[in-house]
Order: sequence, then C-alpha cells, then structure tokens
Amino acid sequence: MPDIDSPRRRSLHGHWSSRLAFVLAVSGSAVGLGNIWRFPYVAGENGGGAFVLVYLVCVFAIGLPIMMAEILIGRRGRRNPVATMALLGEEESGTPAWRWVGIFGVVGGVIILSYYSVIAGWAVGYIFESASGAFTNATVAEVEGTFGDLIGDPLVAGAWHTLFMFISVFVVARGVERGLEQAVRVLMPALIGLLLMLLGYSMMQGAFQEGVEFLFEPRFDELTGGSILEAMGQAFFTLSVGMGAIMAYGAYLPEEASITRTSIAVVLADTGVALLAALVIFPIVFANDMDPASGPGLVFQSLPVAFGQMPGGVIVATIFFVLLTFAAWTSAISLMEPAVAWCMETLEYTRVQAASVVGCIIWLIGVLTVLSFGPLSEVRFLRGTLFDNFDYLTNNIMLPVGGLLIVLFAGWIMAENSSADEIDPEAGLVYRLWRFAARVVAPIAVILVLLNALGLFSSG
Ligand code: TRP
Repeated sequence: MPDIDSPRRRSLHGHWSSRLAFVLAVSGSAVGLGNIWRFPYVAGENGGGAFVLVYLVCVFAIGLPIMMAEILIGRRGRRNPVATMALLGEEESGTPAWRWVGIFGVVGGVIILSYYSVIAGWAVGYIFESASGAFTNATVAEVEGTFGDLIGDPLVAGAWHTLFMFISVFVVARGVERGLEQAVRVLMPALIGLLLMLLGYSMMQGAFQEGVEFLFEPRFDELTGGSILEAMGQAFFTLSVGMGAIMAYGAYLPEEASITRTSIAVVLADTGVALLAALVIFPIVFANDMDPASGPGLVFQSLPVAFGQMPGGVIVATIFFVLLTFAAWTSAISLMEPAVAWCMETLEYTRVQAASVVGCIIWLIGVLTVLSFGPLSEVRFLRGTLFDNFDYLTNNIMLPVGGLLIVLFAGWIMAENSSADEIDPEAGLVYRLWRFAARVVAPIAVILVLLNALGLFSSG
C-alpha cells in the first residue's frame, strides 16, 4: 500500500526530469489541433472579434486558475486522476466520492480523442497530398475537392485515423517521459517558426488588414449566449483543462517546480500559437473569397491554396502538416494518459496492455466520427452530425463542468494549508490572487456562461 497519510508522495510512474520537461509536456498537450484547426474555424463561425475577446478573457480568468488547480491536485495526489481525486477527497473532506470527477475526466478524454484522432488523421493524409504536389497551383475548388474526397471516403479517412491512433498508443505504451520531451523541445519551436514564416506570407499576399479586423474588431451585437459558451469551451479545450489530463501530468511534477510560473508560460505559449494560426489563416481566407464560417474544413481548405501559390510550397506544405501531426500527437498522448494510468492502477494492467485496450476503444468510437463526415453526414440531431454532438458535449459541457468541479474542490474543499503548500507556502500575493480566482471568479463565470447558454437570461 502506498503511504496515503503522507502529503509528500511519489508518483507510481516516475517523474519528469526537470521543470522544463514538464513545461514542454504540458505545452505539448495544450498546443495542438485546438490552436491551429479548431480555434480559427470556431472563431470564424462565431463572427471573429467579439468571440476572440471573450475567448481571451476565458483563457486568463478561468483557464489559468483551473490549470493551476489541476497541477496542484495532481502533484499532491501523485496518482491517476480518479485515484487522486478519491485520495484527496478523503483527506480533505472525508469522502472519496470526488473520484467521480476523475471518472468523468477519463471518459471525457476518451470521447475527445476519438474524434481528435480523426482530424489528426486528416493532417496525416495531407502530408502525403502535399508531398505529391496535389496543391501546386490548385484553385479553391480543387482544394475543396481534395479535402472532400479525403474526409468523405470512410476507408481513406479511417485508414489515417487508424494510423494516428496506432502511433499514439505506441508512445503511451512506452511511458510518458521517454521521447515526448525531446520531441516537443525540437518540434514546438519549429512549428512556431514555420507559422511566423507563413505570417510573413499572409502579410504580403493575403488580405491582411481584413483578417486583422475580423479577428480583433469586437462587434458585440454578434455575440450570443451560444457563442460565449463556444468561446469558453474553446478556452478549456485549447488549454487541455477540465478532464484531468493536466492533473495526470502534474502527478509527475517534481516538488520544487513552481506551479504558477509553469502555468503562465504554458498559457502564453498556447494563446500565442492560436492567435498566430488565426492571423495566418484569415488573410488567406479573405484574399481568396472563402467563407470564414465554413466549419471544420477551414484550415484544410485555406492553407493549401496559399501553399499552392508560394515558391517551394510543396516542401513548406509537407513540413507544415508533419508539424501539425506532431502537435496533435503530443496532445493525443495527454488525452489518453488518464485512462491508461487508471487501467494500470485499478485493473493492474501493464502499460502496454492498458494503452492497447484504451486505444482500441477510442479507435472504435472514432469510427463514428469518420462516418459522420461520409456516409452518415446526413444523420443530424441536436447539434448536427455525430461529430458535432461529440464536440459540443465534450467541449461545451463536460470540460466546463469538470473544470468547475476541479476548481471548486481546489478552492473550497481543500484546506488553505494544502493548496498553499503546493502553490506558495508563504501564501503571498500570487497565491491570494489564485485563491480568489479559484473560489469566486472562475466558478461564477463558468456557471453564468452555462446558464446564459441555456437561455436563462434572455428576455425574448
Ligand atoms: N489542448 C489540445 C489542443 O489544443 C487538445 C487536448 C489535449 C485536450 N489534452 C486535452 C483538450 C485535455 C481537453 C482536455 O489541441
């Protein structure tokens, strides 16, 4: 039995080699399709400016304190999110029922990865499309045709989904520390470098001013309860918070690392990449008379048009989709880790067994998303296609509710001593600010946004 009476526990799965390793791992989790694929298309669907502003407020006022809460809970518990929540629940309030927050998160991660892997599969497929020169001098219609063929054929999209799940299981089966660190250390700067280069292209060749205005000129009359919820959901998704992924990584964080500085670094990097991606994409969208609200295909339909026109575009496009695949990969690993750690600790699977079983389940659910872009694209209910419903359920409901419970636990249930111990034993200003955000700002904001989206404040 591990020593559950001691608050100074060791993780069962080893530790990150340094604070930098942890920052890299968490950034690897945070930066992914959420920044480059989802942020631009959701911003486009919600009218840009005002949405982006609400998103930024949510990232800093809600996402940051929840990220800190997840890391501190994870490091204190040092187990998988289910066991950690049970253990700390017992310690802090005498009830292990808090484990349900962990279970909720494990399930959320499984559902998110099921469709995440399908989109990541598109990126993998695009590596080969790019390398074959399919986009060279292609018209908008041709690019849209290529995209439609790929996502509409369940065998093609399914094959890429399978490949992506396979490489994700492979890394998780080897253990989180090995390989991940080096990969993120090299590939993240490369991705940012390439985006900066593309930004140069957009500034010169795209409708840059139109893009900037679309993104940063708030038109508040376009803001609805639904789009505020979308902005908050995107903030959770892009930071990987609300389902225990960061909690699972926090379990491997060395004692002496600063939670505050780590979290701020990650949040800034993540926000920077999202804004950069949007600044690259929208000028291209407007310069080519494309629809900013065209949905999940936005990135895959706009960037190739630009790649097709630029000198050396075949190579730039290929590298871009390789880097996007890697970014998605390091995020996928974190979506799997809670479920895998749980299977290992509870069902006593080996890491390889756990990763394989979890991977198969996720793959199977993912097939539904593959079909929802092909043969089942006309099957619509509630929020739209099957994919739309998975996406809405996880990002706009499960992550906010999960995050709310996590931050309530850290702010109200945990003793001040316990949380201060992890964030700042002196309980200085930063700790006070965090505690206020965790007890008041974040919970109230999440509840208001959820109620507002249900239409509770609308007069009409
Ligand atoms: N944040 C990742 C992205 O932006 C996706 C992701 C990884 C995630 N782990 C998560 C989302 C946990 C929610 C919860 O692509």
